[in-house]
Amino acid sequence: MEKTRNVAVIVGSLRKDSINRKVANALAELSPARLELSIVEIAQLPIYNQDGDDKPPAEWTAFRERIRATDAILFVTPEHNRSVPAALKNAIDVGSRPYGKSAWSGKPGAVVSASPGGIGGFGANHHLRQSLVFLNVPAMAQPEAYIGGADKLFDASGKLINDGTRKFLESFMHAFEAWIAAKGRQ
Ligand SMILES: Cc1cc2nc3c(=O)[nH]c(=O)nc-3n(C[C@H](O)[C@H](O)[C@H](O)COP(=O)(O)O)c2cc1C
Repeated sequence: MEKTRNVAVIVGSLRKDSINRKVANALAELSPARLELSIVEIAQLPIYNQDGDDKPPAEWTAFRERIRATDAILFVTPEHNRSVPAALKNAIDVGSRPYGKSAWSGKPGAVVSASPGGIGGFGANHHLRQSLVFLNVPAMAQPEAYIGGADKLFDASGKLINDGTRKFLESFMHAFEAWIAAKGRQ
């Protein structure tokens, strides 16, 4: 029998009413039973500064331990100026250090980007993938997930109201489950 896998979900937006957080919640709801998704918060992380490597802030240490303990990482992010939001880049940098002790290395990953705009955060999605190559996070290639017009997909309570998107997100999570089984620790 396949074992349960823990998936850390990193949401690239700090906004209270974030569309991407709603997408992350929908992904958790639609994921196969053997994947356990939980959002790992990044808003509390002090900005990375290499001077802190000798005496790291408690928030960095807790975040690194949380990432080390997980089986896989799912990034759900908006696009800021055609790239990754600063808070998300900071979390990536915090998790990657001290040098040689990256918490990310070897964890299977997947990237979803969502935007009210038509190209669904394509720029952020691919800038993030560039970092993941260096961090040795094997990122699922297909299906790609650029969720455009994302402000129209949820009702006032945050519930996903678009059937096509629901089916797509469900199939995305099934593909990610197979990716984790193939690339993750056995
Ligand atoms: C600083 C900033 C830069 C932005 N740049 C982009 C962009 O390059 N592409 C895009 O599609 N949307 C851009 N947006 C709009 C975001 O897609 C929009 O605010 C979206 O709701 C953010 O996701 P969230 O709801 O999860 O916070 C930008 C927003 C901000 C605040």
